[in-house]
Amino acid sequence: MQQLSVVILAAGKGKRMVSDLPKVLHAVGGKPLLGHVLATASCLEAATRIVVYGHGGEAVKTACAGEAGVLWVEQAEQLGTGHAVAQALPLLAETGVVLVLYGDVPLTRAETLRPLVEAARHGRLALLTVELTDPDGYGRIVRDESGQVRRIVEEKDATPAERGLREVNTGILAAPAAKLRGWVVGLGNDNAQGEYYLTDIVALAVRDDVPVEPFTVVDPAEAQGVNDRRQLAELERCYQRRRAEALMCGGATLLDPARVDVRGTVTTGRDVVIDANVVFEGTVCLGDRVRIGPFCLLRDTVIGDDVEILSHCRIEGAEVGAGAQIGPFARLRPETQLAAGVHIGNFVETKKTRIGPGSKVNHLTYLGDAEIGTRVNVGAGTITCNYDGANKHKTLIGDDAFIGSNSSLVAPVRIGQGATVGAGSSVSRDVPDGGLCLTRAPRKDVLHWQRPVKPKKS
Ligand code: UD1
Ligand code: CA
Repeated sequence: MQQLSVVILAAGKGKRMVSDLPKVLHAVGGKPLLGHVLATASCLEAATRIVVYGHGGEAVKTACAGEAGVLWVEQAEQLGTGHAVAQALPLLAETGVVLVLYGDVPLTRAETLRPLVEAARHGRLALLTVELTDPDGYGRIVRDESGQVRRIVEEKDATPAERGLREVNTGILAAPAAKLRGWVVGLGNDNAQGEYYLTDIVALAVRDDVPVEPFTVVDPAEAQGVNDRRQLAELERCYQRRRAEALMCGGATLLDPARVDVRGTVTTGRDVVIDANVVFEGTVCLGDRVRIGPFCLLRDTVIGDDVEILSHCRIEGAEVGAGAQIGPFARLRPETQLAAGVHIGNFVETKKTRIGPGSKVNHLTYLGDAEIGTRVNVGAGTITCNYDGANKHKTLIGDDAFIGSNSSLVAPVRIGQGATVGAGSSVSRDVPDGGLCLTRAPRKDVLHWQRPVKPKKS
């Protein structure tokens, strides 16, 4: 099979973003625009991915450092899309086919592009076009009486009649590498903008009797570029609608598909129910019958079967065992591991903490750097004092222990199996298995106490 090279044009300034960040690094679904395009190219099994960069090149390269095997070529001056592709020619194989994508057009599906690549493999010039009710600003596709594409005319060079055409150029095209090379070196810049237009290769293909095959994309979002933040927001919504639809196709109930945001990857088991305004980031895995209440954020987290997460929880870098109940208003921080059936209630924060099966931490508690056994009850207001101002220390709590409310566990400390800590205690030494620790100050009672009084005014 003829190898595919993908050339991604990303040298434009993106002035209308009004941003210090290069345009292609602005994110959709938590991922830079260029990241989406690179991923699409990988999906098409591109042998080579070449990015033509300009403005903010170093920042773009750094941000894409994780992408293996991307070739970078600078276009120092932005003299047009044809000039941009010309910069990539030295890196292109002599044979095979080339697909040109734009770094600021993130939502094109690989399935949409495959037929273009196939057409190029059959020696044709393939164009991705779209019908727009408002074609303002785009290059128009000019066909002859028999419907054959003859050329593309840019808006600024078009006659009034041509401006009336609704079929426009998305800019995405595929061609045999050798032919593209010949056409691109032959481009001139005698036009209204004094630019080297890549679109002029269409007329050159017609001249050379190379068939030009247009493919019309049905969903305009696939061809939509980002020029300003309004368009960025529009594409974010399109992307999120796609993600929500994928979740629903996978068997999840979304109480409002317009109010779920996925910035990463979410996998769901059967019969998951997700309420409104839930945000997923990174890699999140939800087991069967998981229920998530409104206003939760889950990042890089694994949730077991039958877990219920009530509203307003933030869960990050955690593993939650089957049947656990979380929230409302809980914060699970990285390296939290909850076994099956654990209860975490409101205003509880955990960090680097393992909690054994069936243990309950129901209210107003901080557990950091702790290991907690099975069937432990942690009373309201319990705090692990894990930090001495310089170092972090561990708290160990044995199976079946009971921690009374409002206790401070001053780490390093171990509460034994079945041990009891009386409410209000400050525990700085280990408590033996089965023992009781009570550090409450002894109670003093004074009968008929006379409160202080203000001096009488004379
Ligand atoms: C281009 C097409 C037009 C099409 C439109 C779709 C040409 C001449 N025109 O128009 O037919 O309807 O896209 O959006 O190709 N870029 C570079 N270097 C340059 C110029 C552009 O890398 O010197 C990159 C930009 O970063 C951008 C893409 O190419 O990603 C398109 O550039 P843009 O200026 O938006 O193209 P238009 O003139 O709008
Ligand atoms: Ca444009």
